[in-house]
Amino acid sequence: MLSAQDMREAVDHGRNVRAVYVYEAPVRLWHWVNALAITVLAVSGWFIASPLPSLPGEASAHFLMGYIRFIHFVAGYVLLAGFLGRIYWAFVGNAHARQLFVLPIFNANWWKEVLFELRWYLFLERAPKKYVGHNPLAQLAMFGLFLTTVVFMIVTGFALYGEGAQEGSWSHTLFTSWVIPLFGQSQDVHTWHHAGMWVMVLFVMVHVYAAIREDIMSRQSLVSTMLSGWRMFKDDKP
Ligand code: HEM
Ligand code: HEM
Repeated sequence: MLSAQDMREAVDHGRNVRAVYVYEAPVRLWHWVNALAITVLAVSGWFIASPLPSLPGEASAHFLMGYIRFIHFVAGYVLLAGFLGRIYWAFVGNAHARQLFVLPIFNANWWKEVLFELRWYLFLERAPKKYVGHNPLAQLAMFGLFLTTVVFMIVTGFALYGEGAQEGSWSHTLFTSWVIPLFGQSQDVHTWHHAGMWVMVLFVMVHVYAAIREDIMSRQSLVSTMLSGWRMFKDDKP
């Protein structure tokens, strides 16, 4: 985790150098695998909740819902495996690998910068600040909207999965056994799992808009940083 001081130095540093290596390969690989898994989960989840009209012919002649659910569960396992790998990398990777998990909430300056970024996103500031890692507002959104939601979706998803896998399976033991009683009954977990999808969709819409907007407006690279790992700084005075 970068302290405010480190962050300021890094920002100053960023003004003088043209590029800094930020996101290591495992973080980048996880980002895109995670994005793909979530896209597949949202589309297949949508069809689980709102199935296509019935198919003609004998029920035994097709297995459409079975395939849709299978795709959802495979993507669910990919999401879980990727997330566990990402947690591991937070321990062994560089300081930027920890930004997603730890918020410097007791740092007044960080909160000031959250407000600054909010004003910048609302077109109320004229000049962007430069950050080597995530900007404070992005970090807050990644923690508050993405991280908590992905944990919630994994816990509720595997609780539902464990119902089918039945007692004795790892998902039933680890999740179903306490999550279903906690929510009341299976349908409540379905409803909250479904609502979680919309929180995630909201995050992704804002996130992709912000990433592209900042790539254009903030005078530092964003999208290519998640591809190559390098943050490029454009000159302050073109
Ligand atoms: C389902 C879709 C997506 C999800 C759930 C998602 C989630 C995330 C998360 C959690 C991070 C923080 C990474 C970390 O600290 O380890 C991140 C960073 C980032 N994402 Fe995405 N992402 C998605 C799609 C995209 C797309 C389509 C783009 C490109 C337009 C993109 C561009 C970026 C960039 C540039 C960063 C780094 C931002 C920075 O340096 O502050 N993401 N994303
Ligand atoms: C961001 C991640 C995820 C999204 C957006 C998502 C989305 C959805 C949606 C919209 C539904 C339909 C809920 C309803 O109205 O009944 C659903 C059902 C379900 N999901 Fe997920 N899900 C995610 C992650 C997971 C994970 C990690 C698992 C674990 C395997 C999982 C397992 C299930 C199961 C078992 C069902 C119920 C299937 C059925 O009743 O036929 N989901 N999901």
